[in-house]
Amino acid sequence: MKLTLKIWRQKNAQDKGGIVDYPIDGIEPDMSFLEMLDVLNEQLINKGEEPVAFDHDCREGICGMCSLFINGEAHGPDRGVTTCQLHMRMFKDGDTIFIEPFRAKAFPVIKDLVVDRSSFDRIQHAGGFISVNTSGNTIDANTIPINKDDADKSFDAAACIGCGACVATCKNSSAMLFVGAKVSQFALLPQGKVEATDRVLNMVHQMDLEGFGNCTNTGACEVECPKGISLENIARMNREYLSASLKG
Ligand code: SF4
Ligand code: FES
Repeated sequence: MKLTLKIWRQKNAQDKGGIVDYPIDGIEPDMSFLEMLDVLNEQLINKGEEPVAFDHDCREGICGMCSLFINGEAHGPDRGVTTCQLHMRMFKDGDTIFIEPFRAKAFPVIKDLVVDRSSFDRIQHAGGFISVNTSGNTIDANTIPINKDDADKSFDAAACIGCGACVATCKNSSAMLFVGAKVSQFALLPQGKVEATDRVLNMVHQMDLEGFGNCTNTGACEVECPKGISLENIARMNREYLSASLKG
């Protein structure tokens, strides 16, 4: 395949940045999108040019590091996949592909296609955990009976990999789907009940401090989420927040 890549290049956080054109040839339909960028970078390095900086780690849809906005869609045109799982067969020979970083005030660009998503880490630190007694008397989790529906819903929420596609695709740059998933994962389980009140108040407070926008129920986040996280989690977080606020 022969393609024209239009890639966002930005030297550092202060640089204004802009789109640069890169014609590329010899791309196989079975290559992943990141392998295609590897080919481009090899060519740039061989020419003595600066390679394009982009984030990646596992390259199998687990870590949530890869984060590209491709032709106006977070993680590109396929559904239920991350950028590292996207294949070039989704594009046609001769296509022009725009590749940009995830854009949100709370995700500032560090370089080229790499953004700083440490705001998500700070939200997690604010409440995305449970305290467990590890003194030797820990009760095995499997001995605590949990309703099957709740266990399944908690597991579904826990599938969130913190990629940030929900924020990038939301017109308000809202992080409600991410935070809703992280709150729901524990709210549905007995282990999460002890810190439930503090958790939702602290995580939502941190989310607001980081500069994420509000949810206006457009649902774009659910459509673009590679892990199928449901809007139901936002509704659950809102219920948890209301009940915690009344207690507080
Ligand atoms: S909710 Fe979905 S889109 Fe948002 S961070 Fe989690 S996995 Fe990524
Ligand atoms: S590189 Fe880990 S999810 Fe894409």
